Amino acid sequence: MLKLAVLISGGGSNLQALLRAAEDPDYPARIACVGSDTDAPGLAHAEAAGIPTFIVRPRDSDSREEWGQVLAAAIQEHGVGSGPDPGLVVSAGLMRILPAGFVREFSPNLINTHPALLPDFPGAHAVRDALAAGATETGVTVHVIDEGVDTGPVLRQASVTVRHGESESELHERIKELERPLLVQTVREIAEGGLVLPPNGG
Ligand code: GAR
Repeated sequence: MLKLAVLISGGGSNLQALLRAAEDPDYPARIACVGSDTDAPGLAHAEAAGIPTFIVRPRDSDSREEWGQVLAAAIQEHGVGSGPDPGLVVSAGLMRILPAGFVREFSPNLINTHPALLPDFPGAHAVRDALAAGATETGVTVHVIDEGVDTGPVLRQASVTVRHGESESELHERIKELERPLLVQTVREIAEGGLVLPPNGG
């Protein structure tokens, strides 16, 4: 059984999809803990499921690297980390760049879901950027996190055709309809060994 630490910043619909998947005894992963950088509304999904949660705020640390160390320690307390059974850290809507020390600590067992077809539109405003660029197709990417911004090896992608006149929130909602099952399926494949994460994130 693959142990997951899920990191969120917002509503947590991807987290909720993983929580629902993990209710199935045949699903090969379980959520050990859910962490956030803020009072994310999505933490309530974990609390309702009886899963431990924690908040590690960047403003309580002197540097990004120190924030990453405190976050790593909180995750490791719940049995996800290095060693023979390291589990997997899943960034599912965490709106922060994870610092290099954190990435080195967990790599390659550290994945992110991003609302664009990487390498197009990395960063915090992927859906807005795709619309602004006049993209006719965008989508979602699940990838291994490396030390760059959304630059790690791509694991799985799914695409969406952009509709004429669609707003950022409408398009993002349609992307998330694909994103949730893609994340659930990607975690399943990692847990079952069919999808092997590239060593050192590269
Ligand atoms: C997801 O679409 C995720 O890809 C995106 O935030 C959303 C979170 O939704 N992440 C990023 O944009 C990271 N750059 P959720 O809180 O409903 O799961």
